[in-house]
Amino acid sequence: MARILTGIQSSGTPHLGNILGAIKPAIALSRVEGNESLLFIADMHALTTVKNPEILRKNTYSVAATWLAFGFDTDKNVLYRQSDVPCVTELSWYLNCLTPFPMLANAHSFKDKSEKLADVNAGLFTYPVLMTADIILYDADYIPVGKDQIQHLEMARDLAEKFNFTYGNTFVIPQPKINDNVKTISGTDGLKMSKSYNNTIDIFLNDKDLKKNVMNIVTDSTPLEEPKNWSNCNVFNIYSAFASAENIAQLKQKYEAGNFGYGHAKNELLSLLIDSFKVEREKYNYYIQNTSELDKILKIGADKATQMAQNKLKIVRSKIGF
Ligand code: ADP
Ligand code: TRP
Repeated sequence: MARILTGIQSSGTPHLGNILGAIKPAIALSRVEGNESLLFIADMHALTTVKNPEILRKNTYSVAATWLAFGFDTDKNVLYRQSDVPCVTELSWYLNCLTPFPMLANAHSFKDKSEKLADVNAGLFTYPVLMTADIILYDADYIPVGKDQIQHLEMARDLAEKFNFTYGNTFVIPQPKINDNVKTISGTDGLKMSKSYNNTIDIFLNDKDLKKNVMNIVTDSTPLEEPKNWSNCNVFNIYSAFASAENIAQLKQKYEAGNFGYGHAKNELLSLLIDSFKVEREKYNYYIQNTSELDKILKIGADKATQMAQNKLKIVRSKIGF
């Protein structure tokens, strides 16, 4: 049996890039027979950037609703909120005491922001240590993440090995599970789709706002009548990230034939988003309107995760000399 674990920060509503790059592949892995998955909402990590309690709470529900809308089976697996299992912060402290300063100073997540040190909080600096605790507390084997998380996973492996070396064999050494078939999805401006670039497609918006979201995709000024280059078109790139091969081939032909404007292409993308994610959008809205149901599901997950975490911490405490 393999134990799969991954987390998504509650720093916004999951966008099409998060869904195709992280959420769908993690759910596919959870369905493989013999696998057990733990998925959690990394609200403690989100606290390094989100300082508004209402927004944090809303984002947490939004991430939970997304996992459920995409079919995560909480009978077979565990879905929980990171902050509901505070054991993780205890393990994080023990790991902090084994973490060399230069290792953290070398993390991309810190280095990217280190030009303005006054803006870097200690939580952001020690972010990879909490992430390590998230993983090894549950003896997870495989961690499905995007390529941007590889360095954090290397640190998690190093710290788990260091603990095992110092105190004797205690933790499973986790392995990243990077899906090479999953491309980085580009955003409305052609850069990587990301909450921090404000260029996302939010499939959970209502039809009217989703239309506005799609209409805002940046295109060039090739006149309507002329054939168009699909390969560098942001609308086409987003469409081809989730359309069938047949739909993609048809759209290519329309671009090449001319008399097909970017407005037409955007309408095709909008229709496909609405058709392809019909069930997920309905389920998502259901959960967002019934957050007490989300609370119940998260409570069950928190209880299961707490049990596992407490068992492991007992062993850890005795190993370190408490
Ligand atoms: P964001 O860049 O929007 O803040 P996160 O860093 O919170 O996204 O990423 C959460 C997960 O979604 C990670 O596993 C990451 O690899 C994946 N992911 C984020 N953006 C994309 C994208 N544009 N294409 C594919 N996967 C993505
Ligand atoms: N750092 C991850 C991200 O930003 C989120 C995360 C926190 C995570 N803890 C984790 C991912 C543990 C995998 C395993 O996407």
